Amino acid sequence: MTPESHSLTDMDLTAADAPVPPPGCPAHGLGPGGVRRLYGPEAEDLGALYEELRAEHGAVAPVLIHDDVPMWVVLGHSENLHMVRSPSQFTRDSRTWTPLNSGRIKPDHPLTPHFAWQPICSYAEGDEHLRLRGAVTGAMSTIDYRGLRRYINRTTQALVNRFCEEGRADLVGRFADHLPMAVMCEVLGMADEYNDRIVHAARDMLKGTETAIASNQYIVDALTRLTARRRTQPEDDFTTHLVNHPARLTDDEIREHLRLVLIAAYEATANLIANVLRVILTDPRFRAQLNGGQMTVPEAVEQSLWDEPPFSSILGYFAKQDTELGGQRIRKGDGLLFGIAPGNVDPRVRPDLSAGMQGNRSHLAFGGGPHECPGQDIGRAIADTGIDALLTRLPDIQLDCAEDELRWTASIASRHLVELPVRFEPRPPQDVRQRPALRPLPAQRPGWLITTTGRQSTEPVDDRPFTPDTVAAWSVAPEGAARTLPVPPAAAPQRRPGLWRRVLRWWRGD
Ligand code: HEM
Repeated sequence: MTPESHSLTDMDLTAADAPVPPPGCPAHGLGPGGVRRLYGPEAEDLGALYEELRAEHGAVAPVLIHDDVPMWVVLGHSENLHMVRSPSQFTRDSRTWTPLNSGRIKPDHPLTPHFAWQPICSYAEGDEHLRLRGAVTGAMSTIDYRGLRRYINRTTQALVNRFCEEGRADLVGRFADHLPMAVMCEVLGMADEYNDRIVHAARDMLKGTETAIASNQYIVDALTRLTARRRTQPEDDFTTHLVNHPARLTDDEIREHLRLVLIAAYEATANLIANVLRVILTDPRFRAQLNGGQMTVPEAVEQSLWDEPPFSSILGYFAKQDTELGGQRIRKGDGLLFGIAPGNVDPRVRPDLSAGMQGNRSHLAFGGGPHECPGQDIGRAIADTGIDALLTRLPDIQLDCAEDELRWTASIASRHLVELPVRFEPRPPQDVRQRPALRPLPAQRPGWLITTTGRQSTEPVDDRPFTPDTVAAWSVAPEGAARTLPVPPAAAPQRRPGLWRRVLRWWRGD
């Protein structure tokens, strides 16, 4: 394809220069130069907008982000991969971005948190990237995945214990938002910092509310204390290995990388868990495949990573030289949005979006190239193990509102399900330290019946103190309460392959 004749520089008009279309005019959503805006009311359905852009421009399209700052959005699967895998042509170092250097972007630009350069591996390149990322991956390589899965399983049981007697719960606020934070606090070596407050602080920070700065500070303070503690009291945890890594990170670098790991892991994995659970509860075909054994939970997670990646785009990559991508002429200093969600639905790789991907892992959800997510195995372990354990424990779980009542908060970078109300038969808490009995067997999952009762969610906020030293300490069933696995509900017996494997995995704590 011949590169399109215009470049981002040609359309760099200020918003004031642009004629304002009358209300109702189809030109709404278009900015200076007739370029589409990726923000505002016309960009509410970003998926549909990306498809219009693909039809108009092909694999790489010119767009305007907030304040009508011009960028390219990369829509093609192979073009996205080419960009992230070509560090000689594209960098994540935003200090090279022309609109930033020319003063076109004001310091209070609403997307500043997404692109502001920081001395962390996400924005570094070359030797500096190797040094910082090497320390992170070196510390990650010490993680014992068997122990991690056991911890995820026990944490899931503990979280379910908090609401299982109520028969109702919001699975976002009481499960998906908690599990990754509890697990990451344990991985980093600060299990005692895990409580409702840190979960709310992380969510508040990501929402960018007026208290976001204080919430960020709360998390930074916890990580500063942890760094200082591990300098003097080493343990066998991620932070100690980061501190002792031969790359000799400074205290500031350690704290910033702990923050990166904690927040990247929390936000992405919470979204992933919520997305998978929502599809299970609302898509009978998906549910039937899981129940019938044609799909495993890890395959369901992988499918979700294709259909609804936790980060829908990354802002951004920046051209280091004049080049060409997807038929567009890219100038040195141009910014490009790494289009994860549109790349995952590129018709050239997925001509039929309803066809299952059957565990195929070539989606863009974890990025690619030198910055490819180093925590993907941890994210997958939390989602796979947590969802499996939740569904085993609450096999009769059903959506407790109409599907169209579900709400999301969305930004250019991600979509977060606000609530996922469910109901189920109330059950007693379970002792999470207990080894499972082989009899009675864990409940077979019945077909999760989808009922959309239209109930407005009235989920109370659970503000009971949640300050365990270890998961085991908070989850002992009360005296006399059931100390076996939940008794199967009186459902028609169903044969499902893999039961013994599941019991064995439970037994081993995998
Ligand atoms: C489902 C869960 C997750 C998803 C979808 C995800 C996705 C991503 C993506 C898209 C990137 C950016 C790639 C790029 O810049 O091209 C990234 C980077 C990163 N992620 Fe994840 N992530 C997940 C979980 C985690 C976890 C659990 C950790 C840590 C334990 C983690 C740590 C990081 C770090 C440190 C980077 C920066 C790497 C670098 O720039 O070299 N992520 N992740």
